[in-house]
Amino acid sequence: MGKSLVLFYSFEGNTEFAAKTLAKYIGSYIERIVPLKQPPKKGFGKFFWGGKSVFMNERPVLEPLQREITEFDNIIIGFPIWAGSYPPAIASFIKDYPFKGKKVYIIACSAGGNAKKAIAKLTEKLSGNEVVASLSLVDPAKDKEKNKKLLLEFADKYLEKEEHHSSSGGTSDSRAGTMELSAGQDPDYDAGTIEFSEN
Ligand SMILES: Cc1cc2nc3c(=O)[nH]c(=O)nc-3n(C[C@H](O)[C@H](O)[C@H](O)COP(=O)(O)O)c2cc1C
Repeated sequence: MGKSLVLFYSFEGNTEFAAKTLAKYIGSYIERIVPLKQPPKKGFGKFFWGGKSVFMNERPVLEPLQREITEFDNIIIGFPIWAGSYPPAIASFIKDYPFKGKKVYIIACSAGGNAKKAIAKLTEKLSGNEVVASLSLVDPAKDKEKNKKLLLEFADKYLEKEEHHSSSGGTSDSRAGTMELSAGQDPDYDAGTIEFSEN
């Protein structure tokens, strides 16, 4: 088993819930990404402030991470979708803590259930690493029981893959694949979809 770290940014608690739940299930370390400045918590201002920060490609200053990324084999990144993308705090994290050669897992939380573009964008940014799997959740703290099940399913696949990897010396996993757990109206709706790569 590789050493794993869940790193997450959460503004309103949904990603925090998902990240903590998953970290518990897979028995990993966990750390929160904290920008020094936060958007207003209430009203429409948060969408304006947050949306603008995405469009302006802002890179907020972060509190220093306590953990050394180099110590970990697997990095699980959790974030809320902001304006169709990953939030500036995640962009800062990638810029401030560049890493390569890791296995990366992505947990994206959104209100609308379409995380495809954001996941693809982040995957592109993380070239040099292997993005093994992703999970898209809809406001998971609003329906904890349902989302715990999805996270448990994700954790099971994660652990299966990890065990298989360590026992086989890292050959490809025939059990890996895509599992559709729910579908919505939007053709790009991907909530509840667990995507695992083929190797
Ligand atoms: C500034 C801002 C922009 C957002 N943009 C989107 C969006 O483009 N698409 C979407 O589905 N949800 C969007 N949301 C909703 C969040 O992604 C969603 O509620 C998520 O679960 C929040 O996670 P958190 O509680 O960890 O912050 C946005 C929320 C904020 C605050």
